[in-house]
Amino acid sequence: MKTYSIIILGIVVASLSFPLGSKGQTPHSEIHAADDGLALTPPMGWYPWNEFGEDPQNEKLIKEIVEAMLTRGLKEAGYSYVGPDEGICFARDATGKLTTNLARYPSSLRGLGDYIHKKGLKYALYTDAGTRTCSKAMPGTKDHEFEDMATFAEWRADYLKIDWCNAEGQNVAKSYAKLHDAQHAAGRPIVHSLCSWGEGEPWKWAAAVGHLWRTTEDICAPGKADWARAMKITTANEKLYEAAGPGHWNDPDMMIVGMDGLSEAQNRSLFSLWCMMAAPLIAGNDLRKMTPSTIQILTNLEAIGINQDPLGNPGHIVRREDKVEIWAGKPLFDGSQAVLVFNQGTVPADVKVRWTEIGLKESASLYVRNLWTHRTTGPHNNDISVRVAPRDVALLRVSKTNDFPVPPIIVADRYLLSFRTTSKEAQKLTGTITVKTNGSDELPLWKVRQGLPSWLSVKVTKNGKSQRLINTVSTGGLKKGSYHAVVRADNVEATSGKSLSALYYDVEFEAMTRR
Ligand code: GLA
Repeated sequence: MKTYSIIILGIVVASLSFPLGSKGQTPHSEIHAADDGLALTPPMGWYPWNEFGEDPQNEKLIKEIVEAMLTRGLKEAGYSYVGPDEGICFARDATGKLTTNLARYPSSLRGLGDYIHKKGLKYALYTDAGTRTCSKAMPGTKDHEFEDMATFAEWRADYLKIDWCNAEGQNVAKSYAKLHDAQHAAGRPIVHSLCSWGEGEPWKWAAAVGHLWRTTEDICAPGKADWARAMKITTANEKLYEAAGPGHWNDPDMMIVGMDGLSEAQNRSLFSLWCMMAAPLIAGNDLRKMTPSTIQILTNLEAIGINQDPLGNPGHIVRREDKVEIWAGKPLFDGSQAVLVFNQGTVPADVKVRWTEIGLKESASLYVRNLWTHRTTGPHNNDISVRVAPRDVALLRVSKTNDFPVPPIIVADRYLLSFRTTSKEAQKLTGTITVKTNGSDELPLWKVRQGLPSWLSVKVTKNGKSQRLINTVSTGGLKKGSYHAVVRADNVEATSGKSLSALYYDVEFEAMTRR
């Protein structure tokens, strides 16, 4: 008679939601990627390419960046995905399987994933839909789609950037659709970040096969922040605002905030534009060497609250006058509206924003919160006047009430659980995940989605300022092997009762035969 010991290897907050343990393949034509519950708000994280390019990428760098995410408040602000971009991470062996470049990643790419999960973050990897990656230093997935997706799942990736180099003769939509199917077959939910730089107009079809898609060329060459190019990209991306929403995002590329050559006002402007466009907030700077101003910009929770708003509306330009743009069209979950005034000129601009041009009634009496100065004024009737410094912004939240919500950002810390049993009988095992809020006094209510497997039940209890989620796992009926369980908790905004984005607890565990 076999008995089993269960070791829960790690619990991370991850954006996941496929039927648990399902190996069933859903044809991509029948599913909107948004329906899978991944990336309901724009992904937040860090990738090395903009600052480092390929060469210095290795395990030591990624671990130092992870450390910086934890100690500089980025994790708390919601940044979670982290991992290597192109940088000679893996090769293909004689059997066709991807193998880690152990010289650069001595713990192996699976080991690095486990490390990142243990830190309570999510694991991002990079690959290519063609035969080789852009530098040609690594194999692409072409004709290895299913085995490679199985390997990325085995390495515990949560997010995959899929480039489009060396793909001559391939159909872009079909190539990414095949990778989507391959990922479903592999059984691990992974955010797909399509990187065809706008080739094939992914905004027209990619929502069915991925969660975000690059709309443009690269924002810069490695190590060289390029303001003019960033503005060109913004102009192109803004036009596509109707294509994006929860689970499917336009991606104007990783940010250049905090890279050499940009002023504080430019950093603030770029960040505000990305927030307003509901663009993925993937930092691209060296997080180990940030000025206090860069940290303050990247972790401004009120600005991030605009980006991560659960309605997921990307804003757009409603008026352009000379060098000044007024951005609006971004209603937020609490009934307020985000407005951005961007002055690209070299002299200060005095700008009047009329309620009618941002879709509100002329007679409305409204409060205005400046999300960079964190001050509220009002009520204002008909309009508001703001002075905006050169190449700077005013990022505003306009509301009927003088009651601006605490940013709906929930941070769940990692609690590594280790459950063991030596009994021959099925046993009940219990572990606890504590969820903390960042900013609120008390967590709103939690709902647990039905449909968990019978051996996993989740109870929610309230415990002062935090609530406790209790997993009760029974070994009954489990066979030896690796398991991937997803616990979904939907968050409800405390006062309005509206749904906020869901959190998913990604539980990896092995059931092993005891001797
Ligand atoms: C493309 C992508 C970049 C980066 C490089 C790596 O250019 O757009 O973001 O991943 O490939 O070679």
